Order: sequence, then structure tokens, then C-alpha cells
Amino acid sequence: MIFKQQRQQHFNINIITVVLSISIIAIVVFGHSQPLLSTREEFIEKIDGYLDNESLFDDLLKNHHYYSTANRHVIEEYYRGAFKRIRNRLSIPSHRISFDPPTYNQTVIDAFASKILLNPQQNLTWNPYDIVGFNTTLNDSVCAVLYPNDSDRSTYYLVNYTSADAAIEAGAFVTHLHDCGYCSTTKDLASYMSHPDLTDPIRDCAIVSFVSDKDSLECIQHSANLTYNCAVIWLYDALNTRKDCLDICLIDWIMHTPNNVPPNSTTLNKCLQCDEDMSGPVFKVVAARTRRDSGLESAINRPPDSIYNITHYYY
Ligand SMILES: *[C@@H]1O[C@H](CO)[C@@H](O)[C@H](O)[C@H]1NC(C)=O
Ligand SMILES: *[C@@H]1O[C@H](CO)[C@@H](O)[C@H](O)[C@H]1NC(C)=O
Ligand SMILES: *[C@@H]1O[C@H](CO)[C@@H](O)[C@H](O)[C@H]1NC(C)=O
Ligand SMILES: *[C@@H]1O[C@H](CO)[C@@H](O)[C@H](O)[C@H]1NC(C)=O
Ligand SMILES: *[C@@H]1O[C@H](CO)[C@@H](O)[C@H](O)[C@H]1NC(C)=O
Ligand SMILES: *[C@@H]1O[C@H](CO)[C@@H](O)[C@H](O)[C@H]1NC(C)=O
Ligand SMILES: *[C@@H]1O[C@H](CO)[C@@H](O)[C@H](O)[C@H]1NC(C)=O
Ligand SMILES: *[C@@H]1O[C@H](CO)[C@@H](O)[C@H](O)[C@H]1NC(C)=O
Ligand SMILES: *[C@@H]1O[C@H](CO)[C@@H](O)[C@H](O)[C@H]1NC(C)=O
Ligand SMILES: *[C@@H]1O[C@H](CO)[C@@H](O)[C@H](O)[C@H]1NC(C)=O
Repeated sequence: MIFKQQRQQHFNINIITVVLSISIIAIVVFGHSQPLLSTREEFIEKIDGYLDNESLFDDLLKNHHYYSTANRHVIEEYYRGAFKRIRNRLSIPSHRISFDPPTYNQTVIDAFASKILLNPQQNLTWNPYDIVGFNTTLNDSVCAVLYPNDSDRSTYYLVNYTSADAAIEAGAFVTHLHDCGYCSTTKDLASYMSHPDLTDPIRDCAIVSFVSDKDSLECIQHSANLTYNCAVIWLYDALNTRKDCLDICLIDWIMHTPNNVPPNSTTLNKCLQCDEDMSGPVFKVVAARTRRDSGLESAINRPPDSIYNITHYYY
């Protein structure tokens, strides 16, 4: 009975959402007496204006006062999502030649998550951010997965090769650009694949570090399913960003500033830029695996030519 009621309510929300969305879009599109056709740029600018206008969404949500707060949040997210999707569709020129990262299904993710690494690194027991003058130079090598027995891919080695060609020649599969590090394991690859947005959960876990670093580390492990060492370097990154960028980041967090500003651009918001500048270089050397260097899509817009052209079908 309860189940049935819940279903009924979901159904109502879906119907009402669709009807209201259509009417909102109708208002947005037809509500002006000006000539209908703006240029694409003008229209994108208009959509961006709507997205920046907090009181617009507050007003829209007033129509739904009879829903619970939780449901109103869901509806608001849906409405915002519609505006964002419209903007993204319009702002990405379809003729641009660039690597379009695929998404990976659960079969692929589970296969990568369950492989056993035969040459694991020592536990990370030191904080690289404490080392003055840490060498953050990356060289042009690649990190690759090498199966000792290609017909039984349950175990693997991680190996540095001087180039992708050298890796392929050795029968290995490139898993990311640059040398291997603490996040190079296929379990961490699986985690990146199944969580396109790690920034949000790890930001929340970083706040737990005000209470306890140990709890914060556990939070990262539980929320993101990273390996122990990879979670540790994510924690050190978060602690360093907290140290150097807290005031900047608090503003963006509380204001829900989008990752990119303006949202259709590849310009980072102030907090992410500070994180990139202050914590990024060490992270790239020690963690080694980043989304861009792994050819994975991300919740942060990046210049398409900065995403490494590889796919992960060597599971
Ligand atoms: C983003 O939108 C603005 C106008 O709102 C436009 O000038 C700019 O070219 C767009 N940028 C990209 C990367 O599409
Ligand atoms: C924001 O939206 C409200 C309607 O909800 C409108 O009255 C107001 O003028 C808008 N503000 C801006 C800056 O466009
Ligand atoms: C990515 O690599 C594949 C295989 O090497 C190639 O066919 C494709 O054209 C590349 N895509 C881009 C956008 O460079
Ligand atoms: C998952 O993706 C792989 C690789 O693209 C494909 O071969 C496989 O059939 C897919 N599995 C499912 C259950 O969709
Ligand atoms: C690394 O640390 C984790 C968590 O404390 C522990 O479970 C694991 O056994 C350690 N591994 C090594 C090789 O010391
Ligand atoms: C930093 O590392 C790079 C690449 O490994 C190396 O070429 C360079 O000499 C190092 N720089 C310093 C100051 O040690
Ligand atoms: C490789 O794996 C296959 C399939 O599990 C197995 O039959 C074969 O004996 C393995 N080869 C070696 C050298 O271990
Ligand atoms: C790959 O290179 C990194 C950095 O140069 C090094 O720390 C790591 O041990 C190397 N891995 C292997 C398997 O040789
Ligand atoms: C990359 O840097 C490491 C550490 O400095 C060095 O040992 C390795 O030989 C370099 N690899 C290449 C391909 O230059
Ligand atoms: C973490 O991984 C384990 C085993 O790989 C899986 O059972 C679990 O559902 C995953 N948890 C999350 C939050 O992804």
C-alpha cells in the first residue's frame, strides 16, 4: 500500500514536472513580444542569465509549495538540469573534431575493479605537500597495464613505458598518460568511471577533515571506492586546498558556483582554479591518474584537446 502510494506520488511528480517544464520553456521562448529568433549566442546568454538568477528558480518553485522540501529540491534540480542541457547542446559546435570520451557500462567497471595488482607500491606514509621544492615535472611516458597471461586477465602489472607505441609493442595497454602512481590501479580506474563527479563527494569529505583526518580518509574511501593509497593522496590534496584556498572555496561552495564560469566555457571557477594551481601539480605526479590523462569524461568542462585519446576496453 505504502509502496503504491509512493509510486503514485512519483508518477504525479513526473507528469507535473513534464507539464511545468514545457510551460516554463514556453514562457521562456514565447513570453516576449520581441521578434522570436535571437542569434544562438544571444539565446545562450539569455539561458545563462536564467541560470544565474536565483530568484527565478525560487519563484518557479513557489508553484510547488504543496511538495515536501526534498521533492522541491528534486524538481529544482530537474529544472536547472533542463536549462543546463539546453545550453550545453547549443554551445558545443557539433563540427569540432575532438576526442569524445565514451561512458563505460557496469560489466567493464566490475572487471577493472576486481583485478589484482601484482606489483603494488608501498603505502603512502608521507605527505608530498610537506616537501619543499617537490619536483612536479611530468615526462612523456605512459602508464600501462600488462597481463602476465593474456587469456586470464584477473592479475596484472603496472609498467611505465617511454611512449604509447612502446607499450603497445610490449603487448601492454595504455591506462593513462605519464608515469604510474598511486591512483593508477584498475580499481581506481573503475572508481573514476563509475563516479564522473568525484569533486563533489570529496569536497564534502574534506569538510569532515575539520573533525578528523582519519574520518575524512574513511569518508573518501567509502564514498568513492578508491584504493587506500589513492584515497590518501586525494585527502592530502584536499587538505592542501583547504590550507591555501579555503576562503576562496567557501564562497564558491556556498554560492553553488558552477564548476565552469561561464558554465559553457572551460574556465574553472575560482575554487577549482586555486585547487588546480596549489594542489594540482603534486597530485598529478603522485596520484598520476587524472581523468583527462585517462581519457575519461568529467563533471568539469575541459578543453577537448586536453583529454587524452584512449579507451579502456582491455578488461
Ligand atoms: C559561451 O557563451 C558565450 C555567450 O554566452 C559565447 O560568447 C562563448 O563563445 C561561448 N563559449 C563556448 C566555449 O562555447
Ligand atoms: C530574476 O527573475 C525574476 C523572476 O523570478 C525577475 O523578476 C527578475 O527581474 C530577474 N532578475 C534578473 C537580474 O534578471
Ligand atoms: C583517437 O585515436 C584513434 C585511434 O588511434 C583514432 O582513430 C582517432 O582518430 C583519434 N581521435 C582523435 C579525435 O584524435
Ligand atoms: C559493456 O560494454 C562492452 C564494451 O563496449 C560490451 O562488449 C558489452 O556487451 C557491454 N555489456 C553490457 C551488459 O551492456
Ligand atoms: C596499507 O595501509 C592499509 C590501511 O591502513 C592497510 O590495510 C594495508 O595492509 C597497508 N599495506 C601495506 C603494504 O602496508
Ligand atoms: C625534475 O624531474 C625531471 C623529469 O624527471 C628532470 O628532468 C629534472 O631534472 C628534475 N628537476 C630537478 C630540479 O630535479
Ligand atoms: C593462462 O590462463 C589460461 C586461462 O585461465 C590457462 O588455461 C593457462 O594455463 C594460463 N597460462 C599460464 C602460463 O599460466
Ligand atoms: C613509474 O614511474 C614512477 C615515477 O617515475 C615511479 O614512482 C614508479 O615506481 C614507476 N613504476 C614502475 C612500475 O616502474
Ligand atoms: C621519467 O621520469 C623518471 C623520474 O625522473 C625517470 O626515471 C624516467 O626515466 C623518465 N622517463 C622518461 C620516458 O623520460
Ligand atoms: C565499492 O566496491 C565494492 C567492490 O568492488 C562494491 O561492492 C561496492 O558496491 C562499491 N561501492 C560504491 C559506493 O561504489
